[in-house]
Amino acid sequence: MKTAYRTHTCGELRAAHAGETVSLTGWVHRRRDQGGLVFLDLRDRYGLTQIQVSKDEQPDAHAAASGVRSEFVLKVDGLVRERPEGARNDALATGDIEVSVTAVTVLSESPTPPFEISGTDDVSDEVRFRYRYLDMRRPEVQKKLLLRHRMNMAVRDFFESQGFVEIETPVLAKATPEGARDYLVPSRLHHGKFYALPQAPQIYKQILMCAGFDRYYQLARCFRDEDLRADRQPEFTQLDLEMSFVEQEDVLQLIERLIQRLVRDIAVHPAELELPLRRIPYSEAMLRYGSDKPDLRFGLEIEDISDLAAKTEFKVFTGAIDAGGCVRGIKVPGAAQWSRKEIEACQPVAAIHGAKGVAWAKVTDDGLSGPVAKFFTDTALQERFATETGDLLLFVADASESVVAHSLGAVRLDAAKRRDLIQKNTFAACIVVDFPLMLPGDNEGEWVAAHHPFTSPHEEDMDLLETDPGKVRALAYDPVLNGVELGSGSIRIHRPDVQERVLKALGLPMEVIKDRFSFLLDALQYGAPPHGGIALGLDRIAMLLSGDDTIREVIAFPKTTSAVDLMSDSPSPVDTEQLDELGIATKE
Ligand code: AMO
Ligand code: AMP
Repeated sequence: MKTAYRTHTCGELRAAHAGETVSLTGWVHRRRDQGGLVFLDLRDRYGLTQIQVSKDEQPDAHAAASGVRSEFVLKVDGLVRERPEGARNDALATGDIEVSVTAVTVLSESPTPPFEISGTDDVSDEVRFRYRYLDMRRPEVQKKLLLRHRMNMAVRDFFESQGFVEIETPVLAKATPEGARDYLVPSRLHHGKFYALPQAPQIYKQILMCAGFDRYYQLARCFRDEDLRADRQPEFTQLDLEMSFVEQEDVLQLIERLIQRLVRDIAVHPAELELPLRRIPYSEAMLRYGSDKPDLRFGLEIEDISDLAAKTEFKVFTGAIDAGGCVRGIKVPGAAQWSRKEIEACQPVAAIHGAKGVAWAKVTDDGLSGPVAKFFTDTALQERFATETGDLLLFVADASESVVAHSLGAVRLDAAKRRDLIQKNTFAACIVVDFPLMLPGDNEGEWVAAHHPFTSPHEEDMDLLETDPGKVRALAYDPVLNGVELGSGSIRIHRPDVQERVLKALGLPMEVIKDRFSFLLDALQYGAPPHGGIALGLDRIAMLLSGDDTIREVIAFPKTTSAVDLMSDSPSPVDTEQLDELGIATKE
């Protein structure tokens, strides 16, 4: 990496370079003054090199080095010397040498930074992201962005090898059907009109299929104005793809190979995922894991015990069943040692999803103990869970199956964390399939698209569209890694008659659809190939590959949970003239 300024990087020199005259550039990582000798650790993104300046031998260089402080940018010229035995540093790639310098040039100065780049102190996220350029000088932060770069390279390499074409689609676009709130951009030339930043390139990629590009992909920036969480940012990147003349399995077999490759070649702790990844129908995922993104790194599977509960005298259980609901539970091995307080800590976890309580029983040498033990007089419950002494059973009953599923799903995750059942640095993936096409809307009898309105129903369920829309399964699929939804996709509707029936079932008047998506409907009329695709969240994949808990860590310039960029201080007010030009007045 030789340039006009340097002959080598700070990570490059080894014992074999001893005797060479070199020039290095970089930031002052640490400076140690030992009177007649100044030692500097010079840092760039390739590594650290120890620089030594002797007062006796190089008085000018020594004088220059005496004035430098942390984060100054220097160019040094000097001689590579092997370090004496005992002064070598095995922890450093360049630890066998040092550079004895003849000249020190200060290229840039720096005030004392708000935190030490070389330090290991905990720096608050607020300070880190306000001074993100300093934060990104830290090797551990650089590693994450370099991993992301390698991931993107691997992705491009993979799609190139599979005959895909990378095509860019507009960012100044029209509302797309992903269903989050849009970011709008006012038009100067057309007052009162707005572009919408794309939530995804969904419509454009379907149109590209109509245009004959049968294998499209893009690393696409997407924008959604929604409530942010650890795995959500207002702008994020999708690995977006679409294919023609495919069925669901064609898409799944392609992307599971990609996921396998990334986990093997890019992850900080590589693993070999066995293919095919398990396909789990949505209904089974909800029943056994209480989630449409099951974390398969541990067991604690949910069991339905409605049949056993129905035979008890416990009103909470029988009441739920009589109301058309169910009773389910999980077994937490070894958790019988939990105190009442620890057990009751499950309640708020379940309550978030609507559960009115969590019932429990401990398995002891003498049978069950705890508040509900008395209702189970035989051993059927123990047999259902294959219990052993020391297990804790946790139950949720509710008139709504969905409340039971989601509540227990949350209790399952929480219990796994508290019992330390999630092995570090492991990967467990699956693909959830057979999602429902529609979910009940806010109002009675109302339906909303579970994925988006262009998702194809299962051929077998087509007849239910008019009679029992909630039962119609979609040709939609979500790959899931370690309990995180990596992506989402579907086979699309390419027949106008089916599209019309689905829109009707969704209660979406044709005029509304035509107003928003007429260009897609038009394109689909002129010879649409059968097609389908998927979009994977690249930020989420990078997060998992680097072993992080939030996508913020793998984004160079992320926003806070209140959608603020602390570094650039955006969003920010704009001049009145600018608003006038756009024909916009702001309200107080
Ligand atoms: P969907 O809306 O499910 O599908 O998005 C696909 C994937 O994008 C990622 N993702 C996000 N990542 C970070 N921050 C966000 N705010 C965010 N929102 C979504 C997730 C998610 O699984 N057009 C369809 C895909 C298709 O049908 O081909 C779509 O966008 O990893
Ligand atoms: P209660 O009859 O309200 O005193 O509750 C008795 C036990 O049942 C307590 O441990 C509650 O947490 C639990 N419980 C209450 N409602 C439910 C429910 N819907 N599902 C499971 N357990 C519940």
